[in-house]
Amino acid sequence: MELDEYFYELFENLPRQGPGDNGSTRKALGMMGRLPSPVAILDIGCGSGMQTIELARNITGTITALDNHQPFLDELNRRATREGLSERIRTVNGSMFSLDFSKESFDIIWSEGAIFVIGFERGLEEFRPLLKPGGHLAVTELCWIKEDQPREIAAYFEAVYENLPAMKNVAGNHECIERAGYELIGSFTLPESAWLDNYFRPVETHVERMRLKYPGNARVDELCNEMLHEIDMYGKYAKYYGYVFFVMRKPG
Ligand SMILES: C[S@@+](CC[C@H](N)C(=O)[O-])C[C@H]1O[C@@H](n2cnc3c(N)ncnc32)[C@H](O)[C@@H]1O
Repeated sequence: MELDEYFYELFENLPRQGPGDNGSTRKALGMMGRLPSPVAILDIGCGSGMQTIELARNITGTITALDNHQPFLDELNRRATREGLSERIRTVNGSMFSLDFSKESFDIIWSEGAIFVIGFERGLEEFRPLLKPGGHLAVTELCWIKEDQPREIAAYFEAVYENLPAMKNVAGNHECIERAGYELIGSFTLPESAWLDNYFRPVETHVERMRLKYPGNARVDELCNEMLHEIDMYGKYAKYYGYVFFVMRKPG
């Protein structure tokens, strides 16, 4: 999908830019056990930062929130100011493909709905040197959660992942985690409400608004149709795939 001004207009001013919820963020954080205090976190592909804010509320320490789209970072800065958290959240406009941070400088690396951009396996490899020994990595990744997928949904994801490594099941991602030298702490699937409440329902409202704002615009129609198709696929096949939180540890 081309990332043009209409694409970004569709995804700005949403609670978040992908499936997720604060309960799942807290659950993944809780799986890490006792954390250093203060703790240093890097949130990669933070978007407008719903998870960044929730992390900041639940830790003692600082979060570096990285994204390559400045309007998302501006929104995160506004939210942090509103919550009185701006002293503890530093936004950085940068790319996950060139992470310019010192080695072993973070206790936790976090990335919800964004590691797919670099690829799950490559992301695990490239994020690892930035973690302190014994540090944790928590990511969400789209996975098959039930076998024998109907042809329609299998074909849909074959097309979505055309130029990317194919979507794996949960066991396949556990294997990647072990191959990359992490200890798997655990994984869990995000609830369906994490797709609907903070993401699909607000996006549907944006789709309606954009159609009214840009009547007859072919690009807007294409984007809106793709989005509604994605929502329709999820409505039909949610039991076959989901976002899975993977929590792991770099050996100390
Ligand atoms: C699906 S959104 C997830 C956002 C947020 N973590 C959430 O869960 O709501 C993916 C995010 O990755 C960001 N992104 C895309 N390519 C990137 C890159 N090369 N480096 C850093 N961030 C990137 C996008 O701007 C977007 O905010």
